[in-house]
Amino acid sequence: DQGKQGYRHYMLKEIHQQPEVVRNTLNHYCDNASFTLKDETFPSNIARFDRLSIVACGTSYYAGMVARTWFEKYAAIPVEADIASEYRYRESPLSPNTLSLFISQSGETADTLAALRYTKEQGLSCISLLNVDTSTMAAESDSFLRTLAGVEIGVASTKAFTGQLMVLLLMALRIAKASGRLNTAAEKAAIKELFTLPVGLSNVIDQLASIKSIASSLMQSEHTLFLGRGTGFPLAQEGALKLKEISYIHAEAYPAGELKHGPIALIDDAMPIVLVAPPGPMMSKTLSNLREVAARGAKVILISNHEGIELASEHITHAIEMPDCDPVMMPVLYTLPLQLLAYHVAVLKGTDVDQPRNLAKSVTVE
Ligand code: G6P
Repeated sequence: DQGKQGYRHYMLKEIHQQPEVVRNTLNHYCDNASFTLKDETFPSNIARFDRLSIVACGTSYYAGMVARTWFEKYAAIPVEADIASEYRYRESPLSPNTLSLFISQSGETADTLAALRYTKEQGLSCISLLNVDTSTMAAESDSFLRTLAGVEIGVASTKAFTGQLMVLLLMALRIAKASGRLNTAAEKAAIKELFTLPVGLSNVIDQLASIKSIASSLMQSEHTLFLGRGTGFPLAQEGALKLKEISYIHAEAYPAGELKHGPIALIDDAMPIVLVAPPGPMMSKTLSNLREVAARGAKVILISNHEGIELASEHITHAIEMPDCDPVMMPVLYTLPLQLLAYHVAVLKGTDVDQPRNLAKSVTVE
């Protein structure tokens, strides 16, 4: 811990450290001259399974939910993602050819550790993705992958999340490579693209200064609804978690396509919507959900690219414009506005950003 280094809060400092975390992660797991994965930095048995089971809590769980899409898309491996406190008691039959992956910033979370022990007792292979090398989970897992986020002080996790996303993405590419789904040309193209991400993230952080005025439109709200599809949905969940953790505003996240099955009944002009709509095949569907809520009076904050904002311009109250990027990097980039929005709402409300009430950085009791 080197202090706040001029930032008002640790959380803001840690948000600004994310380009560096991404750069450190890439340099650790990839060769920056040949733009290839350093295969030996991943456990050697990583591609020998036909199912992946991801178990985690809180923000680490949402990282797993984002990564589920990557494992399925790039590595063609079916994935289940579970909340540790549910998984450990569910007695789900575990198929022997499953790799279990436990994600934890601290490596000490009681439920995730218990889930790891339970899985080991069943004789399955267990790897962990951790930010603390000396943690209990590091000692008890068959092997572990490191996130290179450095010490995180803010209770609301930011840079650890981005660090987790990066390693999970590289792990998906590593499995794809081992199973012959990613040839050398595609590997080099993907890794080369990822090396542009630190600069891309820094640019987005600089451009998001205007988010403060959008935050002021949320600070009086009692409730908010975050919507997204595809990887936009776990990002919406993470954005809602950040907002409730530090600003104490009730924030709920829903898959945008599920709106019509319930939450649309909540919509009126007192229910602001944060809509995550990155470009891609799902964008037009997400924007039609936007029209549905706008028609019922909701004030919409849209996070999208230039095209998405143009298409929805008459229905939105605020827009957060994101640069166009390779779809593989989208979840990492789109995390930033969600973190900064929550941060600025909390600052405006005057809450204790780094030490929110009732929360602990690491929950070592059940
Ligand atoms: C606590 C923290 C969260 C964190 C969660 C899981 O609730 O406040 O920020 O996401 O634990 O922690 P872990 O260390 O297992 O990632």
